[in-house]
Amino acid sequence: SSGASLLVASNRGPVSYAVRDDGGLDARRGGGGLVSGLSAVKGDGGALWVCAALGDGDREAVRRGVGEPGVRMLGIEPDVFHDAYNGVANSVLWFVHHMLYDIPVSPVFDAGFRRRWAAYEAYNRAFADALADGAAPGAAVLVQDYHLCLVPGMLRERRPDLRIGHFTHTPWAPPEYFRLLPDDIAAALLRGLLGADRVGFHTRRWAEAFTACCRDVLGEEYARGERATRVDVHALGADAGFLRERSRRPDVAERMAALRTQVGEADREVVVRVDRTEPSKNIVRGLLAYRRLLERWPEWRGRVVKLAFAYPSRQDLAVYRDYTAEVRRLADEINESYGTDGWQPVVLHVEDDFARSLAAYRLADVALVNPLRDGMNLVAKEIPVVSDDGCALVLSREAGAYADLGEDALVVHPYDVEATAEALHAALSMPRDERARRTKRLAAAATALPPQEWFLAQLNALRG
Ligand code: G6P
Repeated sequence: SSGASLLVASNRGPVSYAVRDDGGLDARRGGGGLVSGLSAVKGDGGALWVCAALGDGDREAVRRGVGEPGVRMLGIEPDVFHDAYNGVANSVLWFVHHMLYDIPVSPVFDAGFRRRWAAYEAYNRAFADALADGAAPGAAVLVQDYHLCLVPGMLRERRPDLRIGHFTHTPWAPPEYFRLLPDDIAAALLRGLLGADRVGFHTRRWAEAFTACCRDVLGEEYARGERATRVDVHALGADAGFLRERSRRPDVAERMAALRTQVGEADREVVVRVDRTEPSKNIVRGLLAYRRLLERWPEWRGRVVKLAFAYPSRQDLAVYRDYTAEVRRLADEINESYGTDGWQPVVLHVEDDFARSLAAYRLADVALVNPLRDGMNLVAKEIPVVSDDGCALVLSREAGAYADLGEDALVVHPYDVEATAEALHAALSMPRDERARRTKRLAAAATALPPQEWFLAQLNALRG
């Protein structure tokens, strides 16, 4: 045929490969919203998903020509990939949009950064070229996230016939913070996105921050808007059908039994948090708040267990590794100062295990989701959907999910450890029937726009 009529581009694709000991390749399909979202349109005249080879297994698959129909993995040179993914996307862009810099010492934009920025351009160019080559005339292209900000502009230059959308899954920084970036780079990122017909965000707040940055950084150029870009809000929701079915399987029941053993006495309350381990998730202040709970309300000692699942993420970067180490250190410290023979106050798990996450979701009496900033946070939406007996949600007002769930959650200021301890106390003290009532309403709000509809809403808007 003469190309796909629907294309998706994202750094992380729907499948990844690992080289077995015998030299063969194992394929692992990812779950997640985008994967199920795209399955809705698979029959749609040929869809193509362009993604990057992330590790050695992926690169080996590309070299051997192994792949799946409808997926095009780009074998980007390892150094270029590393500089673009770690050196720009997950350090600079992630840190800007989540406002994570320790300003007196960082960021520093030096010659090394300029080299990494050139790699980010090359990596974006590789995506734009693959999309331009793979798209049928007039095709719709949906580009995902902060890794690929330059793609819409690059693609439009080569293929003005395409309908191009971009969606940002992170927050967007307000202008004062965004302008920490060197002027030319701030402008290039915005111009890149403005190459799209439509750019999308999870909340109105991030969308407004984006337009404020455009006005501030680009000024007249943006106001003239020769080729106007529309800014939309599509709040991604949880996939109720998938979650309910998956969380009822035997492997989840097994994990529940194991977790119950770790919790100990059957009438203990269970506080749950599940995160990729990185600074924006605010796991450290969450532990400090839990320690404060035990200190200020001693009646909870021996009566509550915190299950903290902190899955390693982006460990090539020292900031992420250091943060992981701090989480472990603090969890140990709390267990040493408060633990007794029959009671371990914090149970920390770091090996990624989706079935065990679902088991914890079902058991949770209280969920703690307290990010410093978060584009959406699907954990906050998944827990109420899966919960067995109702779960009180302690939720940061800085998570995108706050816009959808704020009414029935206990809302916290994520930097305020004392207030977070108070919210944990209130959540643990909440009567069961009130927890259950709130959980029902949270689940309804959380599933308002499930992944497939979220995806189709963008596609329809784009094809309009
Ligand atoms: C965030 C980003 C995604 C990213 C995910 C996991 O949710 O918005 O684009 O895929 O984190 O991070 P990773 O670096 O492992 O892909």
